[in-house]
Amino acid sequence: MVRNLPEVQGWMKQFGEFGLDTLNECVTCSGAQIALPPKPFAVLRYLVEHPGRLITHDELLEALWPETYVQPQVLRTYMLELRKVLGDDAGQPRYIQTIPKRGYRFVASVMELTQTEADTRPHSALATMPPMEAETRIVDRENEMACLKEQFEQAAAGHRQVVFVTGEAGIGKTALVDAFCELAGRSQSFATARGQCVEGFGRKEEYYPVTEALSQLCASQEGDNACRVLARMAPVWLAAIGRECADSAQTATRERMPGDLCAALEELAAEKPLILLFEDLQWADDSTLHLISALARRRAQAKLLIVATCRSQDVTAEHPLKALKQDLRLRRLCNEIALAPLTKVAVRALLSRELRQEELPLGLAGFVHRRSDGNPLFAIAILEHLMMQGFLKREETGGANLTLGQTSARWIQTAAVEEMEAGVPDGLAQMIEMELACLDDRDQRMLEAGSLMSVAFPAWAVAAALEMDPAETEEACEDLARRLYFVELAGTDELPDGSRSTFYAFAHGLYREVLWRKQTESRRAKRHIRIAERLAQLFAGRVGVVAREMAIHYEAASDWPHAVSALRAAARHALERRAHAEAAELLERALRMAENLRESEREAVSLEICAEIASAGEAMEQAREAIQAASIKA
Ligand SMILES: Nc1ncnc2c1ncn2[C@@H]1O[C@H](COP(=O)(O)OP(=O)(O)OP(=O)(O)O)[C@@H](O)[C@H]1O
Ligand SMILES: [Mg+2]
Repeated sequence: MVRNLPEVQGWMKQFGEFGLDTLNECVTCSGAQIALPPKPFAVLRYLVEHPGRLITHDELLEALWPETYVQPQVLRTYMLELRKVLGDDAGQPRYIQTIPKRGYRFVASVMELTQTEADTRPHSALATMPPMEAETRIVDRENEMACLKEQFEQAAAGHRQVVFVTGEAGIGKTALVDAFCELAGRSQSFATARGQCVEGFGRKEEYYPVTEALSQLCASQEGDNACRVLARMAPVWLAAIGRECADSAQTATRERMPGDLCAALEELAAEKPLILLFEDLQWADDSTLHLISALARRRAQAKLLIVATCRSQDVTAEHPLKALKQDLRLRRLCNEIALAPLTKVAVRALLSRELRQEELPLGLAGFVHRRSDGNPLFAIAILEHLMMQGFLKREETGGANLTLGQTSARWIQTAAVEEMEAGVPDGLAQMIEMELACLDDRDQRMLEAGSLMSVAFPAWAVAAALEMDPAETEEACEDLARRLYFVELAGTDELPDGSRSTFYAFAHGLYREVLWRKQTESRRAKRHIRIAERLAQLFAGRVGVVAREMAIHYEAASDWPHAVSALRAAARHALERRAHAEAAELLERALRMAENLRESEREAVSLEICAEIASAGEAMEQAREAIQAASIKA
């Protein structure tokens, strides 16, 4: 089936009820054009194209008058003009915030959408769409939710969509996408698969988030169907996630090709919509980016919505994601939702929700909004901090209801804003560092060890990394999860020796990253090696099962000899399962990694791996012949 691409009419950035029409150099409001002189338009365009961050006077002047000296006061005049057009208030800005003596910040979310013939609604339609019927767990973000809803509806009609949700760390990308999926799930049935990219873990492992998403899909309600379709159309991908294919010899005849997976995903998204989520794409491996690129470019009809979150500040000019996004944008193959900070009203609502208290202490919302710059993660961290420092206290307000045995209590502020001021650092990362500094040495080391794993960290790995007693570590981890709001119990694993080990997750990835960065490379390396060794101990006699994971830890420690051996063990294990293509891929990786070995070992090891690749190829060939012979007989 060939997708009938809707005719592209224009390219529009939207914020609130306004649109920025770069083609006609004007602003639109409810479909009507508002003319602006060229310079104010250029100023607005620059701000809209760089939402959410401080644009200094110098940056703005340099961008708009590169070769000329212009008095900074001229900017003030333009801002007045722009505020008039946008109906904005400098005191309570919805769009342009003045940062005294420094510059400006565009504080509304910006959505970049292709305008199509199919979409003939005026640009303000997003803002005036009926409100989401049900409550969500997040505050604000109605426009962004409506935008995702719009994308989903297009996808559900068979026009695949790719949308990037961007913004700084903690701004609410994941929260938005989660809230959208939850809300959409109440009215429509669809399948979802989520792949998480993690800094410093599996970064170099090809398709790490893709295999995670596929594993999730195969384990979901749609699992049986997903496995059937993958087995038929992309069997090597099924083998790559450790699922046996009914006709496993067939995997031998195929390569792990992105095209196969694209076709299989399209087949899966033929009837029921499929939402593919890629989280934190700034850490994705190149192969994953290529796959997303291929999925975006294919034209067959598919009820497929690809949502990728990424941190705008981490996508530097050389980052391959930057080129991918630019190229897709140029071809009108993706949309972008750039999340802005929360407004003061939204921060107030967030605090009310967190404290479960309608009326807040006077000045608290203003204080948290100002110090967090409207970043929700930062706002929550500040709130926790104020509680820990005793600036916010729970006070019984008397009026005990003796019949029900209940007392009423409310949060009160125990110090003036000026006093709280000194205790809150300027940046989110500093805030996290400060929270961590309050913990004792053992707690800090345990959390650091946890940050070496991917999203979830098991207690046994913490024990191994720090050479602690396993039982004691289990208890200490449990205690951490009880005490710290940013560590959560995530589940229990059964270990091969029959014992059980709990595992935990950081409530937010940024805690993990700060902890990961806090460790020196050599300390991280030592701990990674101990985790890999413990894995080998735990799985003694069948190390092949975990060899791939061991290789990730050895690679992170730059322990090349062990990393190469682990990959070869993983390849042997794949061959035992007749997953020849997977084995070949692992061996290719081992060969590339062998480049890092000492000269004295490099040649011999590389030759051995080449021989193993050749025999995997032979095995593949034999399997292919066997299939042919079987089909002739049949
Ligand atoms: N609109 C919102 N209303 C209420 N809470 C929010 C909102 N947005 C985010 N949060 C909360 O703020 C925290 C950080 O949000 P989230 O994890 O979505 O950020 P993120 O942009 O995905 O960050 P990262 O780049 O680190 O992945 C979470 O605890 C989330 O629940
Ligand atoms: Mg996130």
